[in-house]
Amino acid sequence: MKIAVIEGDGIGKEVIPAAVDVLNAVNLDFEPVPVEVGYGKWERTGLAMDDADLELMRSCDCILFGAITTPNDPNYQSVLLRIRQELDLYANIRPFRPLGITMDIPYKPAKPFDIIIVRENTEGLYAGIEDVNQNKACSTRVVTRKGCLRIAKTACKLAKGRGNSITIVHKANVLKSCGFFRELCIEVANENGVRYNEMLVDAMAYSLVLKPERYDVIVTTNLFGDILSDLCAALVGSLGLCPSANIGDKYALFEPVHGSAPDIAGKGIANPLAAILSAKMMLEWVGEFEKAGLVQSAVDNVLQKGLRTVDLGGSASTNDMVKAIVEYIRSVQ
Ligand code: IPM
Ligand code: MN
Repeated sequence: MKIAVIEGDGIGKEVIPAAVDVLNAVNLDFEPVPVEVGYGKWERTGLAMDDADLELMRSCDCILFGAITTPNDPNYQSVLLRIRQELDLYANIRPFRPLGITMDIPYKPAKPFDIIIVRENTEGLYAGIEDVNQNKACSTRVVTRKGCLRIAKTACKLAKGRGNSITIVHKANVLKSCGFFRELCIEVANENGVRYNEMLVDAMAYSLVLKPERYDVIVTTNLFGDILSDLCAALVGSLGLCPSANIGDKYALFEPVHGSAPDIAGKGIANPLAAILSAKMMLEWVGEFEKAGLVQSAVDNVLQKGLRTVDLGGSASTNDMVKAIVEYIRSVQ
């Protein structure tokens, strides 16, 4: 199996090698194909990613992606957004649950929760149709029938293996494009025998903070999914713990929800768990369920032992975490 490995910038250069170490520890038979894209490349060449990079990604079975720093240039197109669009990675799957431990985190929900955000990943306000002049800036929100149907189907498929219910999050009381999204999601839920309820996105933000245990599979549009993801990451305790999968019909990319964190980059203190758990999602996607389970138990184990990076109030380094995880995996193999 070929895996395109994109470290990107900032802490991407620290957490992706960590995830690769863990893939090696579980003896995954793979060939890493490094793809260099991002800020560094943009500084050198004026282009953060070229067509050859995309071709290289297409030639691999899947992609492991770190994070990319966005240059302060109005003409710059986000590398990640371009990959999502060009490879048609329409479903952004983001699981959020506490990691089976009592952690001292800034805000801790009273009850355990287990949420998956299914975020539409190629259209909405991210469609890239923007028009700015001196007096007015317009971003067009694109919601297509095809886009709604396929994201709703993805959510229903996930719901079948869980509580058989989805929560459709929208703002249909104001936006007609949301009314359209809502109707099609309901249609798909009914066709698939999946129960649904619905929430306006503002009420959802409020409710997620107070009663996250109420929710299971959440399906929503691109920007709402982006915002609610960070909210849910806070409920888990840190962005440094939250993995994600960007899935299409042909390609798939796995990445931590966090960004390149230039403020802590290069210090060796970044939390590698989000990247490692993204690699775990990749293992599931390729059908390596046993190896995925091993990675999950290793992560649970090191957290149970009390190892914590700075984002969780501890002092363990990126390397300390990886070493402990690899040791655990070796000890049970
Ligand atoms: C995310 C990120 C991206 C997004 C940025 C980096 C373009 O915030 O994956 O959540 O907005 O989708
Ligand atoms: Mn985001």
